[in-house]
Amino acid sequence: MRTRRAALTAIASAASLALTLTACGQSGEGGSKQDSGSTKGATIGIAMPTKSSERWIADGNYVVADLKSKGYKTKLVYGEDDPDQQVSQIENLITQGVKALIVAAIDNKSMNNVLQQAKDANIPVISYDRLILGTGNVDYYASFDNEKVGELQGGYIVDKLGLKDGSKKGPFNVELFAGSNDDNNTRYFFQGAMKVLQPYIDKKQLVVRSGQTALNQVTTLRWDGGTAQKRMDDILTSAYKSQRVDAVLSPYDGISIGILSALKSDDYGSKSKPLPVVTGQDAEVASVKSIIAGEQAMTVYKDTRQLAKVASSMVDAVLNDKKPEVNDEKTYDNGSKVVPAYLLTPVSVDKANYQATVVDSGYIKESDLK
Ligand code: GAL
Repeated sequence: MRTRRAALTAIASAASLALTLTACGQSGEGGSKQDSGSTKGATIGIAMPTKSSERWIADGNYVVADLKSKGYKTKLVYGEDDPDQQVSQIENLITQGVKALIVAAIDNKSMNNVLQQAKDANIPVISYDRLILGTGNVDYYASFDNEKVGELQGGYIVDKLGLKDGSKKGPFNVELFAGSNDDNNTRYFFQGAMKVLQPYIDKKQLVVRSGQTALNQVTTLRWDGGTAQKRMDDILTSAYKSQRVDAVLSPYDGISIGILSALKSDDYGSKSKPLPVVTGQDAEVASVKSIIAGEQAMTVYKDTRQLAKVASSMVDAVLNDKKPEVNDEKTYDNGSKVVPAYLLTPVSVDKANYQATVVDSGYIKESDLK
């Protein structure tokens, strides 16, 4: 890029020389700006983590549609939950000459080298939903208030068990699940939930019979439902021979479905053994159906249409030498820099409000819930 700029400069008129110098000055500061005027019809690379979850398929489609509506071309790739594959996909996107990257990382710590290549090619990077860690070569972060997600999940549990309004004192049995340990969101979700649950655990109104309360004991690699199902099976066998579990903190719908399968295999959901309060996240169709059927208790709706808009507007701003809109410049320290972020608001969804939240907004078609 710089060589090309140097060559152009040599033959430029006085006016375009001034422009070029301005662009160079800005890229020297942020390392992420493109030549003004060179972005029309530019191709943007989008790297998503997996097609195994419906939300990421939707995210990819929304980002593509938004960028197209702004006049960009797109290349969308899915890493199928394999960090190495995702890194080589991003290398390919850089080689193919994309002008900006939107990345929802599989392993947030695997990106240092490839993002250095992006930086060297003067390609700005937007971290999508999940913050990329340990590199200064991330320009902006588009996400939701991740700690709030956990607060909604934990808050739902204490509310439904009657602990919050004091109508019940417990003790109730709860088990804790967290997301993938290589996803930065995981600790924010868990932190938010524990902020609400810990005081009740301290007062012994909530009891974790498995004894597994530390984040590194409760994570679920790659957010895999089968892995969560197996862990729930093991917990039921070892800690609930003569006891009943009353609530399960689950960070994500795919994990909730696995947990519910384990519970149902152990006869939960029958008349004499009601299902515990099981939380979730993403408002995936299978989970909203489960909520309607009275199985999963709640999910957290994060409107990925809005997230896609935020990310594509960030790209458009950066490529046009404008500062993207951000609303948080202090929370998301990735170990190398505090990444300026735009955080959207998550919404708690259960049987009482699913219609008003996810259906009436057009996020899920009513017919898909039949
Ligand atoms: C997280 C994301 C969640 C959920 C999870 C599993 O990073 O914030 O909404 O989608 O990944 O895919």
